[in-house]
Amino acid sequence: MDAYLYLVSASYVSHAKFRNLAKALIRAAPCSARAVRLEGSGDGMWHALDELSGQGASRIELRPIGLPFSQSLEKWLPNAAASWLDRHGPGAPDLFMGAVLQADNRVIQSAARARIELTRIHPKADGEIGNGWDSPPDFRHHILVCAGPRCHLKDAPNLVDALKSELGRERVSSQCLVTTTGCLFPCNSGPVIVHYPRGNWYRVADLSDIRDFVAQALCANTIPKHLLIHQTEDHQVSA
Ligand code: FES
Repeated sequence: MDAYLYLVSASYVSHAKFRNLAKALIRAAPCSARAVRLEGSGDGMWHALDELSGQGASRIELRPIGLPFSQSLEKWLPNAAASWLDRHGPGAPDLFMGAVLQADNRVIQSAARARIELTRIHPKADGEIGNGWDSPPDFRHHILVCAGPRCHLKDAPNLVDALKSELGRERVSSQCLVTTTGCLFPCNSGPVIVHYPRGNWYRVADLSDIRDFVAQALCANTIPKHLLIHQTEDHQVSA
């Protein structure tokens, strides 16, 4: 059985918008298909490959969706898929990486000439200013959670949800600003989170790590050293 896996690169798209796009892509696909985001939230590529393979796919095409599509993702994705293939062993489906859309002139022409719905824009004073965008928020802890593609592959977005529910369970949500970010660079140590103002960088691989991080770093104001991967120089402190 053939299958397509659509790989959508779009960091600032809401769940709902992605869901609609995914549905439309899957509806239009000529074969069994799945769609995942490469950044942000939802299942990662490895998870989707597991699913399609479990459904009996013997040949899967990885189809990048996004204009323009990042050249670093274009280079890295075949390697990340090769790693899945290596772990899957004999009986794995054949995998093929598709060319990015900007390489296809027909796609560019169709995007450039498409008849799209238009909404007239009227003058509005201070239209760029939004409510509540005036002052920095008054939080004790700022937690950066990497939702870049390489951390996403290791289920970082699900850890965001787990982190938020653990903050609620420990009743410290009101003290914490959680921000998802793009790649923070130590991808191989991911999924990565950074805790400011202490300047500590952690690897949080699963729910138990999240619990240790919240209990020790946020509630007890100590450093969970088994998770620590780096300290920002100006902030180096002992536990
Ligand atoms: S993708 Fe998370 S550190 Fe690079």
